[in-house]
Amino acid sequence: MSSISSAQAKSLQIKVLDKSHLLLIMDIEKKSFKKPWTHDGYAQLFEQKNYMGFGVFYGNKMAGFCFFYFVLDELHIVNIAIDPALRRQKLATTLLLYIEAWAVKKGLKKIFLEVSVENLAGVALYENIGFMRQSRRMKYYPDGKDAILMVKEL
Ligand SMILES: CC(C)(COP(=O)(O)OP(=O)(O)OC[C@H]1O[C@@H](n2cnc3c(N)ncnc32)[C@H](O)[C@@H]1OP(=O)(O)O)[C@@H](O)C(=O)NCCC(=O)NCCS
Repeated sequence: MSSISSAQAKSLQIKVLDKSHLLLIMDIEKKSFKKPWTHDGYAQLFEQKNYMGFGVFYGNKMAGFCFFYFVLDELHIVNIAIDPALRRQKLATTLLLYIEAWAVKKGLKKIFLEVSVENLAGVALYENIGFMRQSRRMKYYPDGKDAILMVKEL
């Protein structure tokens, strides 16, 4: 695993994503999921009302991304992934806390997400920043795996 030098850490930036980032998103997506979303799937997200993505960058390199939508006073995380070479350096934590601050500024009150019961890294990531397990969604994923619905009150 490469680590981010202090100089790079100083140049970490979080930016709103747009269609010009699709190739960078797909590169991380393919490295992160057994059944990655398609390029078209992400392209369509950019067309949908109230959907947004933020990317974490150092220099010109994208290290990870998170997509979400908001409705009423809720924000729903759709997807988050960090380049495998750059994990365990709090990049996902930084991105989620940034989105949380963005949601607070927008007056939103809760963040929801679903995570596979088998995604121990994901569950630990979310619990570390204060998400609570709300319920279990049986056979939520196409492969028949259950999801945990998690929520954080803002
Ligand atoms: C889950 C994921 C986004 C975490 O990104 P990350 O930048 O490595 O996470 P962070 O460095 O912010 O980790 C914060 C905490 O989460 C937990 N965590 C993260 N990765 C973990 C792992 N592989 N195993 C166990 N705990 C883990 C740890 O508690 C960690 O704190 P620590 O490093 O001080 O122990 C990343 O592993 C990933 O992209 N996975 C594939 C895609 C995915 O599963 N997305 C979630 C879908 S719901």
